[in-house]
Amino acid sequence: MSSIAIKTCAERSKNSAHLPLLAVAGLAAATATFRREEEEKTQNFFFKGDKKESVADMKAKFSTYWPRNIMILFGPPGAGKGTHGPKVENMLGIPQLSTGDMLRAAVAAQTEVGKKAQAVMKAGGLVSNDIVIGIIRDRIKEKDCNLGFILDGFPRTLEQAKALDKMLADEGAAVSKVVELEVPDSVLEERICGRWIHKKSGRSYHVKYAAPKSMKLSSDSKPIPETMLDDETGEPLMQRGDDTPTALVKRLKGYHGETVPILNHYKPNGVVASVNANQQMDGVWGEILEALKRS
Ligand code: AP5
Repeated sequence: MSSIAIKTCAERSKNSAHLPLLAVAGLAAATATFRREEEEKTQNFFFKGDKKESVADMKAKFSTYWPRNIMILFGPPGAGKGTHGPKVENMLGIPQLSTGDMLRAAVAAQTEVGKKAQAVMKAGGLVSNDIVIGIIRDRIKEKDCNLGFILDGFPRTLEQAKALDKMLADEGAAVSKVVELEVPDSVLEERICGRWIHKKSGRSYHVKYAAPKSMKLSSDSKPIPETMLDDETGEPLMQRGDDTPTALVKRLKGYHGETVPILNHYKPNGVVASVNANQQMDGVWGEILEALKRS
């Protein structure tokens, strides 16, 4: 179960009235993919001595023999995991796996998992370990995770961390980096309650720190909901049901009580790096880049 799979199905049914157009688009996409694969086969790289290898061969070799790059983006609600995760994903070419996004997709699709998770998520509690461990176990077997992945929102309890270690140990791998985004609790309410998101893409906005271009304010300086539109698609933005001051109290309690101990679990392995996430976004990104480097 992944949000991507759900999106693809939804898009398919929405577009069924435009089949001829889709056939042309599909053909164009298939041709582009074929060309890219052909290019990868013919592009040569020098690798060790004078031996030449194609990009496709290199990829296959990395997927088979190199350990996967497994990172955890760690931090309280509103720390910036969803803001910076996609940038790490773009830079390293490995997917960001957000258990929060996957669970929200399951709720929207009203799957069995979604029905079980819905109420506890809205109240700011944690979904059961069994459910999220199962979701991650399945997701990391997918092909796009061959070279590694970025975990956002998982693990959230010691039990989840130990289950993750076990899954990885079974293939001789281990968590390679934990990037902790540090933000004091006092800053988080403003961040969480000012957040608006584009549901389809997960793009995150903020009324004060990252406002959409279309935003207009009412006479009492509050954003007018109809003017909150995604910069790229023009589609309406929404606020999450758990982004309320009341739910945030519970989310922070869970974070400090159950999630923070995970840092001590990984520290002896020398993989934890802390970043000051209570500064302007560019500054945070610069520190994340430093943290991701090999130590
Ligand atoms: P999840 O979706 O993971 O929520 P979360 O951890 O509470 O994290 P957020 O998405 O709220 O924060 P973020 O760090 O991504 O913040 P963002 O970058 O958007 O989980 C939701 C729920 O699902 C959980 O409560 C639980 O019920 C369930 N769940 C998920 N995983 C689970 C698991 N493993 N086990 C059990 N249950 C699980 O930033 C926030 C705002 O701040 C944005 O508007 C952004 O623009 C702004 N901002 C970011 N950085 C800055 C900055 N430097 N300066 C100013 N503004 C900033």
